[in-house]
Amino acid sequence: MNKIIIAVDGHSACGKSTMAKYLAKSIKYNYIDSGAMYRAVSLYCLQNAFFQGDNLDLLALREHIDAIRISFRFNEVTGRSDTCLNGENVEKQIRSMEVADKVSPVAAVGFVREAMVRQQQEMGKNKGIVMDGRDIGTVVFPDAELKIFVTARPEIRAQRRLDELIAKGEKASFEAVLENLKKRDFIDSTRKDGPLRKAADAVLLDNSDITIAAQNKWLMELFRQASAG
Ligand code: DC
Repeated sequence: MNKIIIAVDGHSACGKSTMAKYLAKSIKYNYIDSGAMYRAVSLYCLQNAFFQGDNLDLLALREHIDAIRISFRFNEVTGRSDTCLNGENVEKQIRSMEVADKVSPVAAVGFVREAMVRQQQEMGKNKGIVMDGRDIGTVVFPDAELKIFVTARPEIRAQRRLDELIAKGEKASFEAVLENLKKRDFIDSTRKDGPLRKAADAVLLDNSDITIAAQNKWLMELFRQASAG
Protein backbone atom coordinates (compact mmCIF):
# COMPACT_ATOMS: atom_id res chain seq x y z
CA MET A 1 0.00 0.00 0.00
CA ASN A 2 1.36 3.44 -0.92
CA LYS A 3 2.25 5.70 1.98
CA ILE A 4 0.35 8.94 2.21
CA ILE A 5 0.48 12.25 4.09
CA ILE A 6 -2.20 12.90 6.69
CA ALA A 7 -2.77 16.51 7.79
CA VAL A 8 -4.73 17.14 11.00
CA ASP A 9 -5.65 20.77 11.70
CA GLY A 10 -8.12 22.37 14.02
CA HIS A 11 -8.90 24.44 17.07
CA SER A 12 -7.06 24.26 20.38
CA ALA A 13 -8.21 21.69 22.93
CA CYS A 14 -10.32 19.54 20.66
CA GLY A 15 -8.15 16.43 20.97
CA LYS A 16 -6.23 16.90 17.71
CA SER A 17 -2.94 15.56 18.97
CA THR A 18 -4.45 12.59 20.83
CA MET A 19 -6.24 11.71 17.64
CA ALA A 20 -3.18 12.20 15.40
CA LYS A 21 -0.99 10.13 17.75
CA TYR A 22 -3.55 7.31 17.87
CA LEU A 23 -3.81 7.24 14.10
CA ALA A 24 -0.02 7.31 13.56
CA LYS A 25 0.53 4.48 16.04
CA SER A 26 -2.24 2.32 14.55
CA ILE A 27 -0.96 2.62 11.01
CA LYS A 28 2.77 2.71 11.91
CA TYR A 29 3.37 6.21 10.53
CA ASN A 30 5.56 8.93 12.05
CA TYR A 31 3.69 11.47 14.12
CA ILE A 32 4.89 15.07 13.92
CA ASP A 33 3.67 17.70 16.35
CA SER A 34 4.18 20.96 14.44
CA GLY A 35 3.10 23.02 17.49
CA ALA A 36 6.13 21.58 19.33
CA MET A 37 8.36 23.14 16.65
CA TYR A 38 6.96 26.63 17.29
CA ARG A 39 7.34 25.99 21.03
CA ALA A 40 11.01 25.01 20.49
CA VAL A 41 11.69 28.23 18.56
CA SER A 42 10.09 30.16 21.44
CA LEU A 43 12.36 28.34 23.90
CA TYR A 44 15.37 29.31 21.77
CA CYS A 45 14.23 32.96 21.94
CA LEU A 46 13.97 32.75 25.73
CA GLN A 47 17.35 31.02 26.08
CA ASN A 48 19.02 33.71 23.98
CA ALA A 49 17.26 36.63 25.69
CA PHE A 50 15.41 37.70 22.52
CA PHE A 51 12.46 38.64 24.73
CA GLN A 52 12.45 41.81 26.79
CA GLY A 53 9.17 41.37 28.62
CA ASP A 54 6.67 40.80 25.81
CA ASN A 55 8.87 42.48 23.18
CA LEU A 56 10.53 40.09 20.77
CA ASP A 57 13.80 41.16 19.09
CA LEU A 58 12.90 40.27 15.52
CA LEU A 59 16.24 41.36 14.08
CA ALA A 60 18.14 38.99 16.36
CA LEU A 61 15.71 36.16 15.67
CA ARG A 62 15.98 36.68 11.94
CA GLU A 63 19.77 36.39 12.15
CA HIS A 64 19.48 33.11 14.02
CA ILE A 65 16.49 31.48 12.34
CA ASP A 66 18.48 29.39 9.83
CA ALA A 67 20.57 27.99 12.69
CA ILE A 68 17.50 26.64 14.51
CA ARG A 69 16.94 22.96 13.67
CA ILE A 70 14.08 21.01 15.14
CA SER A 71 14.01 17.23 15.10
CA PHE A 72 12.15 14.43 16.86
CA ARG A 73 13.70 11.46 18.66
CA PHE A 74 11.80 8.35 19.74
CA ASN A 75 11.76 7.90 23.53
CA GLU A 76 11.79 4.18 24.44
CA VAL A 77 10.49 4.90 27.95
CA THR A 78 7.41 6.96 27.06
CA GLY A 79 6.86 5.35 23.66
CA ARG A 80 6.57 8.83 22.17
CA SER A 81 8.72 11.21 20.14
CA ASP A 82 10.61 13.89 22.03
CA THR A 83 11.30 17.28 20.50
CA CYS A 84 14.96 18.26 20.03
CA LEU A 85 16.29 21.77 19.54
CA ASN A 86 19.62 21.67 17.67
CA GLY A 87 20.06 18.10 18.88
CA GLU A 88 19.18 18.72 22.53
CA ASN A 89 16.09 17.07 24.01
CA VAL A 90 13.78 19.93 25.09
CA GLU A 91 10.50 18.01 25.33
CA LYS A 92 9.91 18.93 28.95
CA GLN A 93 10.96 22.58 28.68
CA ILE A 94 8.69 23.34 25.71
CA ARG A 95 5.61 22.29 27.72
CA SER A 96 6.27 24.91 30.42
CA MET A 97 3.93 27.84 31.04
CA GLU A 98 6.80 30.20 30.27
CA VAL A 99 7.05 28.84 26.73
CA ALA A 100 3.27 28.57 26.32
CA ASP A 101 3.04 32.28 27.14
CA LYS A 102 5.50 33.28 24.42
CA VAL A 103 4.58 30.93 21.59
CA SER A 104 1.71 32.90 20.02
CA PRO A 105 3.80 35.93 18.99
CA VAL A 106 6.65 33.70 17.78
CA ALA A 107 4.27 31.56 15.68
CA ALA A 108 2.86 34.72 14.09
CA VAL A 109 6.23 35.83 12.63
CA GLY A 110 6.32 35.28 8.85
CA PHE A 111 9.98 34.27 8.56
CA VAL A 112 9.63 31.84 11.49
CA ARG A 113 6.70 30.18 9.75
CA GLU A 114 8.61 29.99 6.45
CA ALA A 115 11.55 28.28 8.18
CA MET A 116 9.33 25.81 10.05
CA VAL A 117 7.24 25.03 6.97
CA ARG A 118 10.47 24.18 5.07
CA GLN A 119 11.57 21.81 7.85
CA GLN A 120 8.09 20.24 8.00
CA GLN A 121 8.03 19.67 4.24
CA GLU A 122 11.46 18.04 4.46
CA MET A 123 10.13 15.68 7.19
CA GLY A 124 7.27 14.67 4.89
CA LYS A 125 9.25 14.06 1.75
CA ASN A 126 9.06 10.27 2.08
CA LYS A 127 5.39 10.41 3.14
CA GLY A 128 4.10 8.00 5.82
CA ILE A 129 3.47 10.82 8.32
CA VAL A 130 0.64 12.23 10.38
CA MET A 131 1.28 15.90 11.15
CA ASP A 132 -0.97 18.04 13.31
CA GLY A 133 -1.16 21.81 13.59
CA ARG A 134 -3.05 24.77 12.22
CA ASP A 135 -1.85 25.19 8.61
CA ILE A 136 -0.80 21.67 7.64
CA GLY A 137 -3.54 21.00 5.07
CA THR A 138 -3.53 24.56 3.74
CA VAL A 139 0.14 25.63 3.62
CA VAL A 140 2.55 22.82 4.55
CA PHE A 141 1.02 19.96 2.56
CA PRO A 142 -1.69 21.37 0.30
CA ASP A 143 -1.54 18.09 -1.67
CA ALA A 144 -1.89 15.78 1.37
CA GLU A 145 -3.94 12.72 0.46
CA LEU A 146 -5.99 12.96 3.67
CA LYS A 147 -6.87 16.18 5.47
CA ILE A 148 -8.91 16.31 8.64
CA PHE A 149 -10.15 19.48 10.29
CA VAL A 150 -11.17 18.94 13.91
CA THR A 151 -13.35 21.14 16.02
CA ALA A 152 -15.80 21.01 18.92
CA ARG A 153 -18.10 23.54 20.56
CA PRO A 154 -16.10 26.08 22.65
CA GLU A 155 -17.89 25.10 25.88
CA ILE A 156 -17.02 21.43 25.35
CA ARG A 157 -13.36 22.28 24.61
CA ALA A 158 -13.19 24.53 27.68
CA GLN A 159 -14.55 21.74 29.89
CA ARG A 160 -11.99 19.26 28.48
CA ARG A 161 -9.13 21.72 29.04
CA LEU A 162 -10.40 22.47 32.56
CA ASP A 163 -10.53 18.73 33.37
CA GLU A 164 -6.90 18.39 32.16
CA LEU A 165 -5.77 21.32 34.31
CA ILE A 166 -7.55 19.98 37.37
CA ALA A 167 -6.00 16.54 36.79
CA LYS A 168 -2.57 18.25 36.80
CA GLY A 169 -3.42 19.91 40.09
CA GLU A 170 -3.79 23.41 38.60
CA LYS A 171 -6.59 25.78 39.45
CA ALA A 172 -8.71 27.62 36.89
CA SER A 173 -12.32 28.65 36.40
CA PHE A 174 -14.47 27.44 33.52
CA GLU A 175 -15.09 31.06 32.47
CA ALA A 176 -11.36 31.92 32.39
CA VAL A 177 -10.52 28.82 30.32
CA LEU A 178 -13.39 29.52 27.91
CA GLU A 179 -12.29 33.12 27.50
CA ASN A 180 -8.68 32.06 26.84
CA LEU A 181 -9.74 29.50 24.21
CA LYS A 182 -11.92 32.02 22.40
CA LYS A 183 -9.05 34.50 22.38
CA ARG A 184 -6.64 31.93 20.97
CA ASP A 185 -9.17 30.87 18.32
CA PHE A 186 -9.39 34.50 17.29
CA ILE A 187 -5.60 35.03 17.13
CA ASP A 188 -5.02 31.72 15.30
CA SER A 189 -7.74 32.38 12.72
CA THR A 190 -7.03 36.02 11.96
CA ARG A 191 -3.22 36.14 11.72
CA LYS A 192 -1.80 37.06 8.33
CA ASP A 193 0.55 34.11 7.82
CA GLY A 194 -0.77 30.56 7.93
CA PRO A 195 -4.08 31.33 9.64
CA LEU A 196 -6.14 28.46 11.00
CA ARG A 197 -8.78 27.58 8.44
CA LYS A 198 -10.28 24.45 6.99
CA ALA A 199 -8.84 23.47 3.61
CA ALA A 200 -11.62 23.16 1.01
CA ASP A 201 -10.86 19.45 0.61
CA ALA A 202 -10.51 18.64 4.34
CA VAL A 203 -12.99 16.35 6.07
CA LEU A 204 -14.67 18.16 8.95
CA LEU A 205 -14.93 16.40 12.30
CA ASP A 206 -16.93 18.02 15.10
CA ASN A 207 -16.25 15.69 18.00
CA SER A 208 -18.46 17.50 20.54
CA ASP A 209 -20.86 14.61 20.85
CA ILE A 210 -19.02 11.48 19.79
CA THR A 211 -17.05 8.95 21.81
CA ILE A 212 -13.32 8.39 21.31
CA ALA A 213 -14.02 4.82 20.20
CA ALA A 214 -16.44 6.03 17.51
CA GLN A 215 -13.96 8.69 16.44
CA ASN A 216 -11.14 6.14 16.14
CA LYS A 217 -13.29 3.80 14.06
CA TRP A 218 -14.21 6.67 11.75
CA LEU A 219 -10.54 7.66 11.43
CA MET A 220 -9.41 4.18 10.44
CA GLU A 221 -12.12 4.02 7.80
CA LEU A 222 -11.05 7.39 6.40
CA PHE A 223 -7.45 6.20 6.27
CA ARG A 224 -8.45 2.99 4.47
CA GLN A 225 -10.32 4.97 1.84
CA ALA A 226 -7.57 7.59 1.38
CA SER A 227 -4.72 5.11 1.11
CA ALA A 228 -6.62 2.89 -1.32
CA GLY A 229 -7.35 5.69 -3.72
O1 DC B 1 -0.62 22.87 19.24
P1 DC B 1 0.12 23.71 20.28
O2 DC B 1 -0.76 24.37 21.31
O3 DC B 1 1.29 23.00 20.88
O4 DC B 1 0.74 24.92 19.41
C1 DC B 1 1.58 25.86 19.98
C2 DC B 1 1.41 27.19 19.26
O5 DC B 1 1.88 27.12 17.92
C3 DC B 1 -0.02 27.73 19.19
O6 DC B 1 0.04 29.12 19.49
C4 DC B 1 -0.43 27.57 17.75
C5 DC B 1 0.88 27.57 17.02
N1 DC B 1 0.91 26.70 15.86
C6 DC B 1 0.90 27.27 14.62
O7 DC B 1 0.79 28.50 14.52
N2 DC B 1 1.00 26.50 13.50
C7 DC B 1 1.10 25.17 13.61
N3 DC B 1 1.20 24.43 12.50
C8 DC B 1 1.10 24.55 14.89
C9 DC B 1 0.99 25.35 16.00
